[in-house]
This record gives sequence, structure tokens and C-alpha cells, in this order.
Amino acid sequence: MEDLILVTGGAGFIGSNFVLQSIASEPARILNLDKLTYAGNLNNLRAVEAHPRYRFAQGDIVDRDFLRDLLGREQPRAIVHFAAESHVDRSIHGPDDFVRTNVNGTFSLLEEARAYWSALPELDRASFRFLHVSTDEVYGSLGPSDPAFSEITPYAPNSPYSASKAASDHLVRAYHHTYGLPVLTTNCSNNYGPHQFPEKLIPLIILNACAGKPLPVYGDGKNVRDWLYVEDHCRAIRTVLSNGRAGETYNIGGRSEKKNLEIIGAICGLLDELRPNDPAVPHSKLITFVKDRPGHDRRYAMDTRKIERELNWRPLETFESGIHKTVRWYLEHEDWVRDVTSGSYRQWMAKNYATER
Ligand code: NAD
Ligand code: DAU
Repeated sequence: MEDLILVTGGAGFIGSNFVLQSIASEPARILNLDKLTYAGNLNNLRAVEAHPRYRFAQGDIVDRDFLRDLLGREQPRAIVHFAAESHVDRSIHGPDDFVRTNVNGTFSLLEEARAYWSALPELDRASFRFLHVSTDEVYGSLGPSDPAFSEITPYAPNSPYSASKAASDHLVRAYHHTYGLPVLTTNCSNNYGPHQFPEKLIPLIILNACAGKPLPVYGDGKNVRDWLYVEDHCRAIRTVLSNGRAGETYNIGGRSEKKNLEIIGAICGLLDELRPNDPAVPHSKLITFVKDRPGHDRRYAMDTRKIERELNWRPLETFESGIHKTVRWYLEHEDWVRDVTSGSYRQWMAKNYATER
């Protein structure tokens, strides 16, 4: 086996941050397998594209022949599986791709990983790992005073997106229980930071606010998410990959619960300071309440004591430091923004924010 990590979905938001951090911090080589959907962007990886320890392979995780050939040829010691359709609103408009990639794609990857792993020499078999990156949304929605989700909270997914992720988590679990495949599952809360596609709340608000466009708030704006800076998530995944116990799941979160209106208020406050000459100042006057997301989960919160206790992981960023870095990143990367907001992005915005959804 090679000192090679196969990363799926490494051209997306979290995957690209993971690739950049891994290349900078460890000796392993990284092979990035990505289909390059609307969410995959090789500009995210410009800093490493010529690095001797980085390579890119375009492909689809549903394609078993492709996966078999790749695994046989490359001999990775681990697979870190990010590839997914990830946006809840898109899953409401069109769930097909979510079942295809998140369920069938994870199944294909598990089947080919199992065949590859079964044929490895004994020592390599023992050290191989399949790390599945999942979400807190599989646990459903919390009331205002419910305790945070723990690793033993029963699954109760509410959207086509979270249901497809829950299905993939169950398959991963079953491959450990039935076949002994050495899997690890991480369930993380909402990420934010550089490279996030501006269909998600934080980058959407930053870009709309700068352009003087409405800041769309679903429902009453009091839905709560637990926010984690993306680099802290990537460090957590690397920690679980190195030291996690095979077969276990680990919850990851920022201990940073915030209502959507608090997030939007924080971004507007930062932009008032950094961009006093924007078309609309104060930026908060652009806040516009719009029709709620169907089935909108009210609150997510993560109990992260297991990963803190067993693996000594903790976030390094506070929400205040992370959101400051994030706003600055979007302001300083106009070319990246221009590239991702052309073409199909405009069609998505028109469709999702039409008066009748
Ligand atoms: P993203 O949408 O930004 O990126 C997904 C990547 O997967 C893209 O590069 C895309 O091209 C690739 N991809 C999609 N379908 C593919 C296929 N069939 N074959 C190969 N590649 C394919 O997603 P993200 O926000 O970076 O999320 C990454 C993972 O982390 C997902 O599994 C998601 O469920 C999970 N997650 C995300 C968050 C969050 O806040 N964004 C939080 C917890 C967990
Ligand atoms: O919790 C982890 C999940 O976080 C990940 O698994 C998903 O991949 C990721 O997309 C994210 O899901 P959310 O639905 O929580 O993220 P999003 O940024 O789409 O929305 C955050 C909150 O903001 C949510 O309550 C909906 C609200 N919202 C979102 C958008 C896009 C708005 O009020 N207006 C908007 O325009």
C-alpha cells in the first residue's frame, strides 16, 4: 500500500480545504477524485495543482468500473469520502441526484473499497481506513431546550438531503458490522469559511450585501445552527483518521449555536466597517423575510464531548474570529466569486427565490 489518501469530492468546499490542509501538514500524497458538478471547482486547488504530492482524477463515485481501476492502480491506505450533493434547498427542488450520489455513490464506493481491502496483505488490511464525512442533519430537529445531539441520538432525517446522508451512514455502519470494513464516520455541524459555494447562507449573505441585493431570511430567521470554521472541521477529520477507533462515529461541532438573524447581523456589522461605500449601508436594511424552506429544521446542536475526550480535538476559531476571516476572504477573492456566480448560479437563484417556491 502507498502512503496515499484517496479523497472524494476534494474540489468542493470542505474537501478542498481538507486537501490544502493535508498537503501542508502531512507527508501523505493526496489523490482527489471529483466529478466536478456545479459545486466542484478546481480553482479551489490552484495552490497545490502542481504539488508533487497532489493529483486530480475526474470521475463519478457511482461508476464502479472506474473506482475498481483507480483503487487497484493507486493502492491508497485510506479513503476520505466527502463527495455528495450537499444543499438542502436543491434536494427539495430535485432529490434524484441526492439519492444517486449520496446513496448509490456511497454504496459503489463501499463495494469497491471492500473488494480492494479484502485483497490486501494482512498488515495493510489492518491499517486501512474508510472515513465517511456526514452531517448533524441526520439526527433531525431539536426543540429550544432539548439536549444537543450525541452519537447515540436516534436518526430522524427530515429533508431528502439528510435522508440520503442518513442512508449512506447506515450503509457505512453495515459494512463494518457485516464485513469488518474499518470505517469511521464523522457527523459535523454547519461549516463556513473560504470556498463555500454562495448558495449557502453565509457566502450568499456576504455577496448579496455587498451588491445591495436583498438578504433572504427564511421564515422568522430564528432557526438555530451550530457553526464551525471549516479548517477546524478538517483538523477534526484528520484527527479521527489518525486516531479514531474503527467502527466508531464522532460528532463534530463548534459549540457555537446561533440564530440565522444573529449570523446575518454579524456579517452586516463587519461589512458596515469594511465596506462603508456599498450601495446599501447599513447593510442590515437589505434583510428581507421570504417564504420558509419546506420542512425547515428548527435547531441543530452537537454534543462534542466524545471527540474532545477521546481524541483531544477542540475548535481553534471562535465564531467571531472565523466569520471575520471568512468575510475578508470573500472580499479579497473577487475572481473566484465572479467565476462561480456566472451562468447556472443565476438560474438557481431565480428558481429558489422566486416568490412561489
Ligand atoms: P460541496 O457541495 O461543496 O462539494 C461536494 C463535492 O462533491 C463537489 O466537488 C462535487 O463536484 C463532488 N461530487 C458531487 N457528486 C459527485 C459524484 N457523483 N462523484 C464524484 N464527486 C462528486 O459539499 P461540502 O459542503 O464541501 O460537503 C462535503 C461533505 O461534507 C458532504 O458529504 C456533506 O454532506 C458533508 N457536510 C457538509 C457540511 C457543510 O456545512 N457544508 C457539514 C457537515 C457535513
Ligand atoms: O448542518 C450541516 C449542514 O449544514 C450540511 O450537512 C449541509 O450540507 C449544509 O448545506 C448545511 O445545511 P443548512 O441547510 O443548515 O445550511 P444553509 O446554509 O443552506 O442554511 C443555513 C440556515 O439559513 C438554515 O436555517 C436555512 C437558512 N437560510 C438559508 C439560505 C440559503 C435562509 O434563511 N436564507 C437563505 O437564503
